[in-house]
Amino acid sequence: MGRLDGKVALITGGARGMGKSHVRLFVAEGAKVIFGDVLDELGQAVADELGDNCRYLHHDVSSESDWENTVEATLEAFGKIDILVNNAGILRQCPITDMTLAEFKQVLDINAVGCWLGMKNVVEPMKANGGGAIVNISSIEGLTGARPLHRLRRQQVRDPRHDQGRRPGTR
Ligand SMILES: NC(=O)c1ccc[n+]([C@@H]2O[C@H](COP(=O)([O-])OP(=O)(O)OC[C@H]3O[C@@H](n4cnc5c(N)ncnc54)[C@H](O)[C@@H]3O)[C@@H](O)[C@H]2O)c1
Repeated sequence: MGRLDGKVALITGGARGMGKSHVRLFVAEGAKVIFGDVLDELGQAVADELGDNCRYLHHDVSSESDWENTVEATLEAFGKIDILVNNAGILRQCPITDMTLAEFKQVLDINAVGCWLGMKNVVEPMKANGGGAIVNISSIEGLTGARPLHRLRRQQVRDPRHDQGRRPGTR
């Protein structure tokens, strides 16, 4: 008996890396999984390998319409959403003086807006199902701080109180 028997999970950025591991483990533990990515060939290959309990969809997490399509497709395929894993993320490591505004906005769009859109879109289906779990993957550097500005996003995802100038663990 798997730890996720009967559960339906939506996982972002599952074509490679940690996201691919999450997809594999969730399926091995009995979950039905829909996962997305922008790397369609890699994503489809993962789904083909894992069988009927796992489906791949093209899903750019920075796109509101992609989120709507993915949530709809998950409900159509498996009837509910128990778990969302916001895993997709990018890293742009360079001095602020070398980074363009477009690059900075892309980091925020994928890493911060992508998580926000995910949470926004699964809340109602989860409520209709009696609850659920949302996992936002982040980095320890979102708590400790670091030089590259992409980590601003991680602070916002880990602890929205950063927006108010407070540190985690303080009131
Ligand atoms: N690997 C680490 O040591 C580490 C440490 C801390 C945090 N993280 C976080 O874990 C997550 C996964 O990291 P990883 O190391 O597996 O990275 P990775 O680059 O191997 O995988 C990220 C995946 O996200 C996908 N992706 C990128 N942009 C996307 C978009 N717009 N829409 C949908 N998918 C998109 C990529 O195609 C890729 O498949 C990231 O959020 C990362 O910030 C990783």
